[in-house]
Amino acid sequence: MAFYRKYRPKKLSDLIGQDINVEIIRNAAILNRLSHAYLFYGERGSGKTSAARILAKIANCEKRLKDEIFRKIGEPCNSCQTCLSIDSGNAIDLSEIDAASNRGIDEIRNLQENVRLAPSSFRYKTFIIDEVHMLTPSAWNALLKTIEEPPIHALFILATTEIEKVPATIRSRTQKFLFSKLPKNLIIKKLKTVASSENISLEETVFELLAGASEGSMRDAETMLDQIVSFSDKNEIITLKKAENVIGKVSLEKMNFLARALFEKNIEQALEFTETLKNENCDIIQFNKDLISYLGKVLSLKANSKMESAFKNIFSENELEKLKRLAEISSIENHIRLLKMLISAHREMRYSPFSFIPFEVALVEFIKS
Ligand SMILES: Nc1ncnc2c1ncn2[C@@H]1O[C@H](COP(=O)(O)OP(=O)(O)O)[C@@H](O)[C@H]1O
Ligand SMILES: [Mg+2]
Ligand SMILES: [Zn+2]
Repeated sequence: MAFYRKYRPKKLSDLIGQDINVEIIRNAAILNRLSHAYLFYGERGSGKTSAARILAKIANCEKRLKDEIFRKIGEPCNSCQTCLSIDSGNAIDLSEIDAASNRGIDEIRNLQENVRLAPSSFRYKTFIIDEVHMLTPSAWNALLKTIEEPPIHALFILATTEIEKVPATIRSRTQKFLFSKLPKNLIIKKLKTVASSENISLEETVFELLAGASEGSMRDAETMLDQIVSFSDKNEIITLKKAENVIGKVSLEKMNFLARALFEKNIEQALEFTETLKNENCDIIQFNKDLISYLGKVLSLKANSKMESAFKNIFSENELEKLKRLAEISSIENHIRLLKMLISAHREMRYSPFSFIPFEVALVEFIKS
């Protein structure tokens, strides 16, 4: 089973980086004041679908409903028939609708017929509608009617990455929860837990590489780890170099090294560095894009030191230190000049049969000018 499924959060306390949401849901569970319609929105791979299933378990868990003491912890028991059937994906009273697959026309029609009937064993007839922004206008209308006057045994949990595409009429009838990108340190922490339960050994820097490349998506981070492991032998210690090769990304450490060489006008270092990228079959277009994005952050920190606190979520402490030092070594004009040269190199690289050349030309031009 893929890591991202094997390590899916099963209870609220497994959900990381979404503390406010967890607290509100837990309190509602403790007070038994669940709403009948929820809307989970925000970044991909941040826990929306997982939270929807946990909420479905909380609402229906047999143990929680019967046992006062159990209810006080505000979590599903994960061992009753109801919880087990939701985890295994074959609960009769839970419909999981993926609106992305056929834009939901038939499903919403089914839902309309289905929702009136009392649940067969659950407390609530529960509907999770994922990627809900993909519904057609007529499916929205049908859904709106149902959500406006839901039977008391109905529970709706909608999830989407694109809240602005959800009609205001639906939004205003749901309790809304924002799921944000996960901070880098929490992604690293979970990756380490996964690696140790799977007995995988990795160089420490691989965790930083994956967490950075995931851009705040826990699922992406876990999927990349999966990918690297499938390219490695059992008992092999996975190196940064190997990980970079498999996922096609270069560590921030190396980007920092090249940028420093450029600002210090060290042409040998800069060209030797690109030579190694060549020998390692690096995707230079991707590398240049990542470098531009990195230098963009260096520039914004240089222009506004308050950015530092925003960057705490996307860089590790060590990386942030290096980024700050880089911001100090050259003038703002130089930073801008380098960025502009790399951006125009990017345009040429995309159409060039020798994509390394425009990149190298840009580096030499920057240093010489
Ligand atoms: N907040 C989180 N805490 C722990 N793991 C998470 C979190 N968000 C995502 N994951 C991991 O990523 C996988 C996919 O998450 P999912 O809930 O489907 O994200 P979304 O629906 O927001 O795209 C999960 O199975 C889990 O392994
Ligand atoms: Mg999802
Ligand atoms: Zn249960």
